[in-house]
Amino acid sequence: SEFDLVIRNGRIATAADITECDLAIRDGRIVAMGENIGAGKQEIDARGLWVLPGGVDAHCHLDQPMPEGLRMADDFYTGTRSAACGGTTTVMPFAAQEKGQSLKAAVEDYHRRAEGKAVIDYAFHLIVTDPTETVLKEELPELIRQGCTSFKIYMTYDDLKLNDGEIIDVLALARSEGAMVMIHAENADCIGWLTKRLLDAGHTAPKYHAASRPMLVEREATHRAIALSELVDVPILVVHVSGAEAVEQIRWARSKGISIYAETCPQYLFLTAEDLGLDGYEGAKCVCSPPPRDQSNQQVIWDGLDDGLFTIFSSDHAPFRYEDPQGKKPNGEEVDFPYIPNGIPGLETRLPLLFSEGVNKGRISLNKFVELTSTNPAKLYGLYPRKGTIAIGADADIAIWDPKREVTIRNEMLHHDVDYTPYEGRTVTGWPIMTLSRGELVWNDGDVLGRAGQGCFLPCGKPDMAKPKVRG
Ligand code: URP
Ligand code: ZN
Ligand code: ZN
Ligand code: ZN
Repeated sequence: SEFDLVIRNGRIATAADITECDLAIRDGRIVAMGENIGAGKQEIDARGLWVLPGGVDAHCHLDQPMPEGLRMADDFYTGTRSAACGGTTTVMPFAAQEKGQSLKAAVEDYHRRAEGKAVIDYAFHLIVTDPTETVLKEELPELIRQGCTSFKIYMTYDDLKLNDGEIIDVLALARSEGAMVMIHAENADCIGWLTKRLLDAGHTAPKYHAASRPMLVEREATHRAIALSELVDVPILVVHVSGAEAVEQIRWARSKGISIYAETCPQYLFLTAEDLGLDGYEGAKCVCSPPPRDQSNQQVIWDGLDDGLFTIFSSDHAPFRYEDPQGKKPNGEEVDFPYIPNGIPGLETRLPLLFSEGVNKGRISLNKFVELTSTNPAKLYGLYPRKGTIAIGADADIAIWDPKREVTIRNEMLHHDVDYTPYEGRTVTGWPIMTLSRGELVWNDGDVLGRAGQGCFLPCGKPDMAKPKVRG
């Protein structure tokens, strides 16, 4: 027959449309959509199911080299397996430069970590921690030509942060080469001062992580990132925006015509600072930066997802095991809050949580869900329209959802290699029951079919969204 696979009678949604029709796949791509199309070698009856573009998780950390003694729990196999089982078909983790290290060497090392392991397709962001002349003039332009067209820079963490002058240099390079810059906006010196004060007062428990990084430190750094972006005249993406005061800065920038994109994550909708615990150590499971805030900030994030303030919704999956001397208990000890590795798992639960609490509860439309979780991340980082939509010619990266399936999230049913989920016991409605990566079933209602190594490295194009605004 003409087609490898035909999906019949599904409710197909993109960022723009919803259509009930058949969809045909050949050689890993979508080749036809319509009514009563011809037979496939394989067929899926999707009556009552929703057929969506696979998720693009454009912010996750997999097998990222860590400081001595720490280790990320997920590599490219367990991380992409977990993503696939949660309806995601593309991940974008980070090739991170260590200070003093060549960025090219960091990328080569990261290719080796990925090779033969990924279940779904992947692209790399870069993390620039040491923007030397060689990095700016030679390495970055070459890496951009090779398809690493986005990089993250940090305003905090001693081993990662850039000063304002270095940030300006990186932004100027991004402008001239057409790359997208992601900024982690928290004021490092404010955090340092507050941390010392808390420790001096004997406040060492995980919950003080939140007290050491109040909204003000994120607000100030967000404002500064916006000003530097305006100075250089290049768009930026502010990553993992956690609440009202950062949102206000971004709304202000937009009102001035400055092109600022914004990302948020599940932890800012579904966790609060209270999840960092009372006096016990369990709260270490929810230590991430910026920290989760409170209910009124959660509402501001929901509003921003619905009204266009947010461009993308990512997991920021940063996996550390709880009962692990290389994880949340370094050397097997319950350490003071500044020494708890930052980050929480979320690759597999990102889409079901937003689907259930957003789409099914009427807070966002189905089209908005697709836009935030798949279409916009693909556009923002130069993967569109190969990824991020359902269209003729696009890769057949598809998640088939049962919008009524009730699932109580338990870590034992997830496919990452972390020993906990922050969402344990939470019941959601709607789950991706099948996931297709370039036309091949990688997840089929409880069965992992994806094989290590079937995912490919995706060179990213220069994103249109990184271009400076045309004025006048
Ligand atoms: O706490 C977090 N988010 N850890 C991951 C690294 C980052 O800053 O995104
Ligand atoms: Zn390679
Ligand atoms: Zn960050
Ligand atoms: Zn991150």
